[in-house]
Amino acid sequence: MPESTDTALTQIASRTDGARIVLDRVSKVYPGQDAPAVEEFSMVAEPGELIMFVGPSGCGKTTTMKMINRIIEPSSGSITIDGRDILSLDPSELRRHIGYVIQQIGLFPHMTIAENIAVVPKLLGWTKQRTADRVDELLQTVQLDPGTFAHRYPRQLSGGQQQRVGVARALAADPPVMLMDEPFGATDPITREKLQAEFLRLQESIGKTIIFVTHDFDEAIRLGDRIAVLSERSQIEQFDTPAAILAEPANDYVRSFIGQGAALKRLALIPVETAVLGAASAAVDHHRIATDDSLRDALDLLIVTGAPAIGVVDRSGTLVGSLTVERISTALGADATALAATRSDEGRLA
Ligand SMILES: Nc1ncnc2c1ncn2[C@@H]1O[C@H](COP(=O)(O)OP(=O)(O)OP(=O)(O)O)[C@@H](O)[C@H]1O
Ligand SMILES: [Mg+2]
Repeated sequence: MPESTDTALTQIASRTDGARIVLDRVSKVYPGQDAPAVEEFSMVAEPGELIMFVGPSGCGKTTTMKMINRIIEPSSGSITIDGRDILSLDPSELRRHIGYVIQQIGLFPHMTIAENIAVVPKLLGWTKQRTADRVDELLQTVQLDPGTFAHRYPRQLSGGQQQRVGVARALAADPPVMLMDEPFGATDPITREKLQAEFLRLQESIGKTIIFVTHDFDEAIRLGDRIAVLSERSQIEQFDTPAAILAEPANDYVRSFIGQGAALKRLALIPVETAVLGAASAAVDHHRIATDDSLRDALDLLIVTGAPAIGVVDRSGTLVGSLTVERISTALGADATALAATRSDEGRLA
């Protein structure tokens, strides 16, 4: 007997810290089109993983994402969340259990910020008190003061603030899965950077399974556990961790996406403590970097101060060694070798 939508969704929804999503040869052909917008797309997202889709306009990112909450019905293939076939569930019920931030913020203009965030809890029949408490909690989570913002309308907020409300609204019912379609797309670089930092902090504490679409490769590197670089028809050119993609782009297509400065981008992912440090006595100036800062931060400090060596301090503030440009360069090389070794090991196991 087929499982009821209710039971399946209750079980999925109970996994608020992330669910496993499996797409198996999923295709979409829009009515009246010959070529598929998405062709045989297969991917596994593990619970709590943040996966970035990067690819050019029109390559099928939004279409792929919208098939996961069935705003768009796949033409073929299968999609499961925690082993449940979502194509057998009621689509509107399903959508209430998947947080979704759409490409154009999409707040309801005639509703206050609080009402916007409360949309899904209301549909789920939460009490007034529970809903109000949740709205307050979420506004604080995205760093908007409830007293100031709850009763405003979207047009009375800046673009970046509206984006945060969009994220809060998607989080409202504590869904195990979040789909985010260029959630920070409409913001200036400074606001975007702030939103990214907030988002990283948030994901550390909530650990949802998130699919996140972006045009911005740097955003993908900064936020993603793994990145899928997509080309036309959502073909996966490479699917790996940011460090592995930067160290070993699979082909010219991926290389063109990374753009200039792959080495610098990689430095930002390597913590200072992985470098072989020089003697603490070499750090004669008073410039200091922490072991859990990145090598990119260390390099910036060396360049800005013009110091030949900077001191490295551990969490307790004790000077434990020094870093020079040469040592940073060596660490970068060692990291690439280590990555290559891991990959050939994986190859042997496979
Ligand atoms: N409703 C539709 N009917 C027909 N074709 C569509 C429809 N929606 C999208 N497409 C086409 O499908 C392809 C993929 O579109 P999609 O919106 O998934 O791209 P995208 O990667 O999200 O692009 P962008 O980065 O610009 O948002 C495009 O060629 C688009 O023109
Ligand atoms: Mg899109």
